Amino acid sequence: MKTTSLETLSISQSPGLLDARKQDGLDPLSSIGDLFDLPPDLVYLDGNSLGAMPAVVPEKIQEAVTEGWRTGLIRSWNDRDWHILPLTLGNRLAPLMGANAGEVLVVDSTSINLFKTLSAALEMRPDRTEIVSERDNFPSDLHIIQGAITHFYPQHKLVEGKESDESILELIGPSTAVVTLTQVSYRTGLIRDMERITKEAHRAGALVIWDLAHTLGAVPVDLNAADVDFAVGCTYKYLNAGPGGPAYLFVADRHITDAVNPLTGWQAHADPFSFDTHFKPASNIDKFRCGTPGVLSYIALESSLDIFEMVDMETIRKKSKRLTTLFVDLVESFCNGYPLQLASPRDSNQRGSQVSFSHTDGWPIMQALIAHGVIGDFRAPDLLRFGFAPLYTRYEDVWLAASMLAHILESECWKDPAYTTPKLVT
Ligand SMILES: Cc1ncc(COP(=O)(O)O)c(C=O)c1O
Repeated sequence: MKTTSLETLSISQSPGLLDARKQDGLDPLSSIGDLFDLPPDLVYLDGNSLGAMPAVVPEKIQEAVTEGWRTGLIRSWNDRDWHILPLTLGNRLAPLMGANAGEVLVVDSTSINLFKTLSAALEMRPDRTEIVSERDNFPSDLHIIQGAITHFYPQHKLVEGKESDESILELIGPSTAVVTLTQVSYRTGLIRDMERITKEAHRAGALVIWDLAHTLGAVPVDLNAADVDFAVGCTYKYLNAGPGGPAYLFVADRHITDAVNPLTGWQAHADPFSFDTHFKPASNIDKFRCGTPGVLSYIALESSLDIFEMVDMETIRKKSKRLTTLFVDLVESFCNGYPLQLASPRDSNQRGSQVSFSHTDGWPIMQALIAHGVIGDFRAPDLLRFGFAPLYTRYEDVWLAASMLAHILESECWKDPAYTTPKLVT
């Protein structure tokens, strides 16, 4: 079995590799890549699942642990403003999504935030009984809707559209209470037209909740320009806050008074430290808090936001489109003749920062790629998924990944039984 290594590929004098290096030399974000600590000899194309670590994170967390926790102890909740991190980081995240200060809270997980905002939106449309979503939504989003219906809103019904925006629009009508969709598909990277769908939902009298998990940090978004009601998303993908980093939720200013958080934990109280046993919600977005925030993961998010504040989203988007286009072109040229099908939109304007290819043997092929130093991931039943985080992905990485994929297919090394073993996390 003929195999190759990233090292061998990287000393090739291929014109494609030299050209990719030239593009890296011209990349306005190339110095930003140095602010991330990625292992050497690795091409990391999974920042759409778990973002890379900003290099300062170990030092910042070490400081928070030794000075904040060991030395400051309980005093740090005040002295370091730990208690208000959900709001202060929400305010720093707000510009990335076209939101105002006071409209974003960094808290809990995306799933929990979807439950909270879905319940709030349903209560604001009491005479309507349909929740419009999409068949290929991230499963947790559908599970949360199904659970909400089963346990709390038995008179409601979930109606699911397909991939096209048209199929969603057809479902919106006078019974629609809420339309909840993921803006960038986790499977294909297809971008939904947020402005158009939101407008049509509003025209029908419904509210919208957008899941931005695969949008924020890679695709510019302007929630207030699109008149969005609610949004949710996570920070551990393109926002690089680390495994299990806190999620966020957005509530448009105009809804903050009326929107009700069903999870009435003590930190959503107007004055949590009054220890009032009767619940009275905060009047600002803090009403969407629940329990104590996990401070250490907020520290990692702070480090990542320090980096985002040095760049602008248009530069990120421009590079993202070029990276994904280069990857599509190279894979289709290098892997011509193998049964790989582009599953992402061909038009980069309709594509987030990922490229998916389908192949019936996607799982062992991805395992072989990972073993050869190119990390992407696999989504059942047949998708090889590659994420291109523009802050640290180089054009050279794109060339190396496409070349390695071609080598894996050509050598058929993916047929090695070592690559067929299932793993818990894919
Ligand atoms: C689009 C989307 N929504 C929701 C989730 C679930 O997020 P969490 O596990 O943080 O609740 C994910 C996780 O990957 C996701 O990709």
